[in-house]
Amino acid sequence: MITVSKDKTFALTNAHFSYVFRVSPEGILEHLHYGGPLRDPLDVAVHHLRTQREVASNFQGGPYFSLADTPQEFPSFGTSDYRFPALHGRNSDGNTVFSLHYKNYRIVKDKPRLKKLPSARGGDSETLIVTLEDPLHKLDVELYYTIYQDYGVLVRSAKFKNKGEKELQLQHAFSSALDLPPHDYEILHLHGTWSREFNEERIDVPKGRFVVDSARGTSSAAHNPFIAIVEKGTTEDYGAVHATTLMYSGNFSLSVEKGEFEAVRLLAGINPFNFHWRLKPGKKFCTPEALHVYSDKGLRSMSHIWHEFVRDKISPERFRHKPRPTYLNTWEAAYFDVDEDKVLHLADKAKEIGVDMLVLDDGWFEGRRDDTSSLGDWTADEERFPNGIPALAAKVKAKGLKFGIWFEPEMVNPKSKLFEQHPDWILHVPGRKPSLGRNQLTLDLSRPEIIDYLYGQIDDILSCGDIDYVKWDMNRNMTEVGSAGLPKNRQREVSHRYMLGLYDLLRRLVKKYPDILFENCASGGNRFDLGMLSYMAQNWTSDMCDPIGRLDIINGCSYLFPLDVTAAYIGPSPNHQNGRVSSVETRFNAGAFCAARGISLNEDDIDAHKDQLQSLMAFAKDSAGDFVGGRFDRLIKSKNEVCWQYTSRDERTVYLAYFHIFAAPNLPFRRARMVGLEADADYMLVEDGSRYAGDALIQNGMPLPYVATGQVNDKVRYMAKGDFSSYLFVFKRA
Ligand code: DGJ
Repeated sequence: MITVSKDKTFALTNAHFSYVFRVSPEGILEHLHYGGPLRDPLDVAVHHLRTQREVASNFQGGPYFSLADTPQEFPSFGTSDYRFPALHGRNSDGNTVFSLHYKNYRIVKDKPRLKKLPSARGGDSETLIVTLEDPLHKLDVELYYTIYQDYGVLVRSAKFKNKGEKELQLQHAFSSALDLPPHDYEILHLHGTWSREFNEERIDVPKGRFVVDSARGTSSAAHNPFIAIVEKGTTEDYGAVHATTLMYSGNFSLSVEKGEFEAVRLLAGINPFNFHWRLKPGKKFCTPEALHVYSDKGLRSMSHIWHEFVRDKISPERFRHKPRPTYLNTWEAAYFDVDEDKVLHLADKAKEIGVDMLVLDDGWFEGRRDDTSSLGDWTADEERFPNGIPALAAKVKAKGLKFGIWFEPEMVNPKSKLFEQHPDWILHVPGRKPSLGRNQLTLDLSRPEIIDYLYGQIDDILSCGDIDYVKWDMNRNMTEVGSAGLPKNRQREVSHRYMLGLYDLLRRLVKKYPDILFENCASGGNRFDLGMLSYMAQNWTSDMCDPIGRLDIINGCSYLFPLDVTAAYIGPSPNHQNGRVSSVETRFNAGAFCAARGISLNEDDIDAHKDQLQSLMAFAKDSAGDFVGGRFDRLIKSKNEVCWQYTSRDERTVYLAYFHIFAAPNLPFRRARMVGLEADADYMLVEDGSRYAGDALIQNGMPLPYVATGQVNDKVRYMAKGDFSSYLFVFKRA
């Protein structure tokens, strides 16, 4: 997989891609190729046209060579390249000019894991570590490249080591840089906000710099840490794609810069804005991992590569391919109005409709009647849960259900015992009144004593042994980011140290409770990234539970994430976020391909739709094994229609979900051309036993149901009349 030539050309190759770079005659690391696999990757034509460009400065006096025009593996600033650099900071002389030169390399079997940051698992892999050095300032930068035998993902990270006797300061400490050759590219990225996460935007790569980033302390719904640079015109099935994500849950930056000579630079890493790290002599700084995918077969293939990798190498192994329980969550059923009787009553309802797990959401702890108080005080409210959580969990379990509970550990309300006792435990800066978000403040997770405290609080509840699931929520972005635990000159390290603290807390908890299914939530998808997913097998994708609102969210999310890591429930109608009225069927169908499916309805709603809920939950339960480890495909996505396919891992069952948003008369008869089926096999439609040839479904497509606005003809399959209709086909391979 990794080969190195005598004159130091390095090539990483598997069946998916080749990645090639070399030590240039000037001693810098020059990027040569990242694209389809090459027969002889060491034999890449180098762009020998080192030319004297007008205006360009020549690198360190050598003629005909400017870094402004050279693709590099890890660029710095100040020595003839004027683009945004991967390394920037203050050196031991107080100026900002670093110059990195090749020092040595080593290859290790498998993949080293990062100690304090989440990192992809190894297995059938090799890692190339190339060390660059700035001999003047005694800074070593180790570049890590892991290639796997069977995956189309390249994992990169960087490690900075201060080998000198003076302090260095890092401001840009990116994880990876990728200099792509001039070409007609577009950018695909995912943006949004609360309840409108994962909107897809496609734009031409502009001249200048385009950045998706976060300075909010969470990776955030505003921009998911994902970007794809695609060849212009790329579709689901055609076109070259370079996609990147960062395994990090805090302030990140993914920037795309098209410079004066049209080459395109992608930088992935911690957001350099507001970041500053003091690297004392002898100290190291490790970046988060940046993951790269190349595919020349369009977006579908890119997504399949991501999905497989996330499932196999990132999401907790214990839950890989493990069917998720169906559940009833108390949030939209009762909000804060929960008590032991009500929860037990809902548990009976859950049992009646065949749900596997009861989840007690927000509102169970001391004094919590609304969102103005009590975060931080993680003991059961005595009035409403007089017997405590362990007793409640035991009672729910005695009914034959699993039991799950909600926490928001990183937060504290000013109105709480914890805040009274420790007012300086919050993120804050001296002399300024802290800004509130949802009436709450953020605890300072950069401080080890707070991590220990939170571990103790959560452990007290989980150790009862009857908790099967934890929903880990986080409902505000950070402001006044400062720490009473760090000196003045380290205040710009707080955001990153917060993440290290959070990861430490999660690592300790999942280690002690490996069988608890943790679900990551940050007001829905405000921190939906591979960092969190490496500890938690599930993610609450969005608070948007209206099915039509959810379609774009799932569609966008699926570019990077397998639906194995997502959850969805049937919420109330009219929907509480946007007021839309929709059928129970469409509310279920929108989340039908998510691994975890459930309901969040009050008793009256459950009673009103009992039979239908019973049959949907039975379907969810029976098909739970199909929705882990299978293949998800986006088939149609337009303003008015969405069609998705899901193929189970054993390829025996194929699901097709079709959504028609606004009804209209005289619509066209539409088909969905299905993908990945066995052309020679027949597929039987479960609802009526009709048979379809695999090749016909692929080539000619499945006729989609028609919205019944006119006369009904029994040869046509109809959907409910009116807006927001949907249809779910289930095929069995004959
Ligand atoms: C935000 C989450 O996204 C909701 O599902 C719910 O858990 C509330 N927080 C509870 O406060």
